[in-house]
Amino acid sequence: MKLDEKVALITGASRGIGRAISKTFALEGAKVAINYNKSEKDALSLAEEIKDQSGKTLLVKADVSKSDEVKRMVRKTVENFDRIDILVNNAGILIPVTFLDTTEQIWDKTMEINIKGAFLCSKEIAPIMLNQGKGKIINIASISGLAERAAVRDTAYVVSKSALIGLTRSLAVNLGPDISVNAICPGLTDTDMATSLGHERVRVGVEESILKRIAKPEDIARTALFLASDDSDIITGEILTLAGGKAMR
Ligand SMILES: NC(=O)c1ccc[n+]([C@@H]2O[C@H](COP(=O)([O-])OP(=O)(O)OC[C@H]3O[C@@H](n4cnc5c(N)ncnc54)[C@H](OP(=O)(O)O)[C@@H]3O)[C@@H](O)[C@H]2O)c1
Repeated sequence: MKLDEKVALITGASRGIGRAISKTFALEGAKVAINYNKSEKDALSLAEEIKDQSGKTLLVKADVSKSDEVKRMVRKTVENFDRIDILVNNAGILIPVTFLDTTEQIWDKTMEINIKGAFLCSKEIAPIMLNQGKGKIINIASISGLAERAAVRDTAYVVSKSALIGLTRSLAVNLGPDISVNAICPGLTDTDMATSLGHERVRVGVEESILKRIAKPEDIARTALFLASDDSDIITGEILTLAGGKAMR
């Protein structure tokens, strides 16, 4: 198995992409710390599903934008599993509004979860990985963070995902050679977040892709698995686009 005995902490794992990553990692032998914030029922059902596949899990409630909660989450993970080999900064929100409708509150909330959350989790976990001599950080950004015209409408979200790409590159330089840091930029992926955009935006997004389909959370999870495993040991500082050709550069 590709992640045998590895310990992975996945933020925002209760639903959508984070949930699929958790299941995929567990099937490959990882011990998975499932972070959630509001969706306790979903997190509990995920833990049950993984246990049924004989995987080891830990549920850790934390708002990733709050440093005291992040500290507690990391402490609990290390107390239970002794180490952390993989961090997936996946937790994120999208409030679909144009620039003129972006209030200060929407701006702050988006930045706090999407970028400050990844900063806080990485800051807390990087020293642990450095002590171990190896680690992998995977940031779930978005094609909205790239120069992809059709996906840059929602200002705060776009800026937060561009910042996450910048954070990925900066962490790769700062934490190498021991820790590899890469980003995945999904295009439209079939989760609650895509549904919240409405049928028409999803239809247009699919139409603009070469592969003519929305991604499944499992599509993203398989690439996350590759970046988490030893198969990707030569890769760091990369920004991988998973959008069926929609954001081809
Ligand atoms: N779906 C897409 O089309 C798409 C495309 C590109 C990139 N992405 C990115 O992929 C990531 C996952 O998105 P998704 O589509 O799976 O969204 P989703 O279905 O809406 O799930 C979002 C997850 O983030 C968690 N979360 C939100 N705020 C949090 C906080 N403050 N602390 C901890 N967890 C928090 C939620 O947990 P609770 O419910 O427990 O609060 C939930 O598990 C996001 O970063 C998103 O920007 C998604």
